Amino acid sequence: MSDLQPYGATIPTNLPRFCKSSSQKDGDVTVCVRWCYIAVTCTLIWRGGVDSVMVHNFVASFGWRGLLLLFLLALLIPKPTGAQQPALNLMPMPASVQPGTGSLRADSSFSVALSGHAEPRLERGVERFLQQLARQTAIPLNLKPSKSAQATLVIHTDHASKEIQEVGEDESYALEVTAGGAKLTAPTPLGTLHGLQTFLQLVDVSTNGFAAPAVTIQDKPRFPWRGLMIDSARHFTPLDVIRRNLDGMDAVKMNVFHWHLSDNQGFRVESKRFPKLQELGSDGRYYTQEEIRDVIAYARDRGIRVVPEFDIPGHSTSWFVAHPELASGPGPYEIERRWGVFDPAMDPTKESTYKFLDQFIGEMARLFPDQFFHVGGDEVNGKQWDANKEIQEFKRAHSLKDNQALQAYFNRHLQPIVQKHGKSMIGWDEILDPTLPKNITIQSWRGPASLAAAAKQGYRGLLSNGYYLDLGWPAARHYAMDPMSGDAANLSLEEQQRILGGESCMWAEYVDAENIDSRIWPRNAAIAERLWSPADVRDPASMYARLDFVATRLEWLGLTHRTSYWQMLRRIAGAATPEEFAALRTLTDELEPVKDYTREQTAPAEPTSLTPMNRVVDAVPLESDAGRRFGELVDKFISTSCLDGDTVARLRAQFTAWRDNDAKLQPLAERSLLVYEVAGRSRDLSALGTMGLAALDAMSKRQPVPDSWKAQQLARLKQWKEQKAQLLLIPVSAVQKLVEAAATGGTCANGK
Ligand code: ACM
Repeated sequence: MSDLQPYGATIPTNLPRFCKSSSQKDGDVTVCVRWCYIAVTCTLIWRGGVDSVMVHNFVASFGWRGLLLLFLLALLIPKPTGAQQPALNLMPMPASVQPGTGSLRADSSFSVALSGHAEPRLERGVERFLQQLARQTAIPLNLKPSKSAQATLVIHTDHASKEIQEVGEDESYALEVTAGGAKLTAPTPLGTLHGLQTFLQLVDVSTNGFAAPAVTIQDKPRFPWRGLMIDSARHFTPLDVIRRNLDGMDAVKMNVFHWHLSDNQGFRVESKRFPKLQELGSDGRYYTQEEIRDVIAYARDRGIRVVPEFDIPGHSTSWFVAHPELASGPGPYEIERRWGVFDPAMDPTKESTYKFLDQFIGEMARLFPDQFFHVGGDEVNGKQWDANKEIQEFKRAHSLKDNQALQAYFNRHLQPIVQKHGKSMIGWDEILDPTLPKNITIQSWRGPASLAAAAKQGYRGLLSNGYYLDLGWPAARHYAMDPMSGDAANLSLEEQQRILGGESCMWAEYVDAENIDSRIWPRNAAIAERLWSPADVRDPASMYARLDFVATRLEWLGLTHRTSYWQMLRRIAGAATPEEFAALRTLTDELEPVKDYTREQTAPAEPTSLTPMNRVVDAVPLESDAGRRFGELVDKFISTSCLDGDTVARLRAQFTAWRDNDAKLQPLAERSLLVYEVAGRSRDLSALGTMGLAALDAMSKRQPVPDSWKAQQLARLKQWKEQKAQLLLIPVSAVQKLVEAAATGGTCANGK
């Protein structure tokens, strides 16, 4: 049997009995064993991600009977699919991942060769990839693509993608990594760029140094439109911030940058035809056309389209500062500093409005090459229209029964202008009206139902409801939102195909250049996965485990979602001692800003675009990692009957640290107004620590605590759940679970 030596090992000679029947000659026995071995190995590899060396070792140790058992078990295990999530830190999870054996080292000899279709964008992509690999590993690498077919990573791209990237282009790729080398193949450069990002996520430090595990990946996106919207109107977003966020989008395979460029608070684009728009409407904070072209080129290099949004007819005060003749009310107008929905709206009844828009959109259509042009259309409150007698008369004359009909009239005149300039019109769900042609696209923000309604009526659509990053939801809540859920699940296949995907939205009332990254990342990566990966990749625990890793990787790209928190805390802390700073961090790690739209209502004074964003509420991440982990620990403790000694010790240490923290922070709170603002939360955290210790003490006695104790604790917990300084104390709910468990004598939820 020496010819049967897979991977240099002989097949064990303890033969299965059925191969040894007396009628068989020696040669037949060999053939029988050979076939048994091949069948079992193939089945195990196919079903269970096991390799042939493992099969060999197993047979050597446990004999054929053991192997037969393993074989039967393997048949019971469902075959791996895209939904199975191996312990690779990939995000978004690829459509199909098959683990291999061994790993490919990334050392200073690492090289990349390009073959097939060639274009400078691919060379730049490889250079960026090598730069990023060098940054991740601190290994100096030659950044130029290699000419040798023996390169560590060999790339083959079939053909060019469209000169102006389109919705639904082929973005697929296949990546095979073995111990001897890696191969990336893709039909177009878009797939190649995505595959390079996957490779970067594979490389990590291992016992083999920096290395990528052997794996075979076949990947393609579930949805063709995977966007991030950034509002650069309410607070201006500097170019370096835009660029690093495009890098982040690239890393998680998002392919549309929706740029919200005008709103009541600012007009952010240079118009050469109407220069007063930016001169009077932006406080000098706008993008020149040259800068915009640079951003578009930067995005294209990363397989990202740039869709501009000019929000009309409402949300348009900044236009009217220079051009009050466009408005429905007399003016004069100033740049709006407050947040909310305001009355000014374009006059949809005047021909001059459309003439202006024709020239403006013509200019912008030449500047932005993408096929889509976003016209906003949201939240027109109609007050200026109601107050204008001529507009009321116009409505009567044209049988426009209400302001919604008037807005549909506006859109029916706007759409041909957008189309005339070669673009397809997209707007928020308020533009949905059956009198509009079917070639417009609806971005659903008020609820997923409008997305399904649009698709049913023949319109293409995108989901943003559920993906509003500014609302401060945990990543898991965004992750659970699927463009095909709710009403959309009942659509026909043809209707479902009109759902192009979704976009996360970063509205900028409470973000500036300093904290914007921490409001977008890492949660945006979870949305990116929802839009790229198969629908059945939806386990939040796996998502969070991988998100932690991706969050660190994103900082290597220059994003500042973690470092800005630390830096902002430093400003808040001033000349704090190391112990005071640590105490501040212990507190703020457990805090999150208030959720949804409550930030404005809970503010100490009306917030405006001129309000400094230097408070703890501006610094802390929107989702507290420490708070989430603590909640998970308590859930695990309770689900194991509150008996696990290690967990008790960890909980005790945590509660003690919280209990003692306030005293450490006090001196700093007396010196810094910004720390003083959170002194109440600090006292709450300490009291929460004391309560947690009491709950653990009670549980350790296994005696039910008096009802009066429980009622008293629950009343205090209720108070602590309320915001203070616009901050929520995240561990309160978990401590409540412990108090409730203590009330039952520490028997915990499952009644043991
Ligand atoms: C929106 O959030 N008003 C589109």
